[in-house]
Amino acid sequence: MVFEGTFDYGPAMSSPHPQEPADGETHFGFRAVPESEKAGMVRSVFDAVAPKYDLMNDLMSAGIHRLWKAAMVDWLAPRAGQAIIDVAGGTGDIAFRMLERMETNTAAKVLPVTVCDINAEMLSVGRGRAVDRGRLNDVEWICGNAEALPFPDMSFDAYTIAFGLRNVTHIDKALAEGRRVLKPGGRLLCLEFSKVLVPVLDKIYDAYSFQVLPWLGGFVAGDREAYRYLAESIRRFPDQDALAARMSAVGFDQVKVRNLSGGIAAMHSGWRI
Ligand SMILES: C[S@@+](CC[C@H](N)C(=O)[O-])C[C@H]1O[C@@H](n2cnc3c(N)ncnc32)[C@H](O)[C@@H]1O
Repeated sequence: MVFEGTFDYGPAMSSPHPQEPADGETHFGFRAVPESEKAGMVRSVFDAVAPKYDLMNDLMSAGIHRLWKAAMVDWLAPRAGQAIIDVAGGTGDIAFRMLERMETNTAAKVLPVTVCDINAEMLSVGRGRAVDRGRLNDVEWICGNAEALPFPDMSFDAYTIAFGLRNVTHIDKALAEGRRVLKPGGRLLCLEFSKVLVPVLDKIYDAYSFQVLPWLGGFVAGDREAYRYLAESIRRFPDQDALAARMSAVGFDQVKVRNLSGGIAAMHSGWRI
């Protein structure tokens, strides 16, 4: 089902306790919702925040998301000639960074990066950014679902997903799709919020996420509930070890994890051998 119109997040959204999904349900933040509705609800969140998405990222993280994204691109070390897909790529942040990295110190041809996202509004903001940067031909913007990617098997040398996996309805399906579209020898890198591993920092981070973030989202992006969803969805996401285990379970090899900022975020790397 595709959700359309104004989205009512409902009273349970403000519950401090996560609801456990029953059969046929999944979680949307702390709420249990029918599985068939989650993608539409997520789409609605990003429709609402798309125009202010990049500004909010800088404000919410005091610019730290830039360092995390740079760390992911560093770990991937993409090279000219590689076919790369950035899934849930939104407004193209990761794609632009990878292009800059691939263009450094090479005379070889850099292929366009494919950005695939379920939300046409986010892609449209990204396309505008590409125009501003003179990069219209360097990125292919494709509207599609991470759980059913519109690409043949073994199409890409690398697959990245930054702050996207948390939003999909079936994480394992998205991971399996990632593996399917990778060539043998290809690599998946996921950057996502994770479990804070530093005592005291976890308490400060909790207070910040549940009190400051929704307020900031309401003030800057005009959507307090979208940023409450952000905080809740982070708490519901598998921790470092659990996500690594799920990557291995769908067939990724040499799965490795690197924590960022004490585990506020983490990068997971896996190979299709
Ligand atoms: C937090 S944004 C991250 C955007 C970008 N990767 C970044 O790091 O700035 C999450 C993105 O995931 C996209 N998304 C959510 N569910 C998706 C799905 N099932 N398939 C593809 N994209 C999805 C949203 O539309 C949104 O653009």
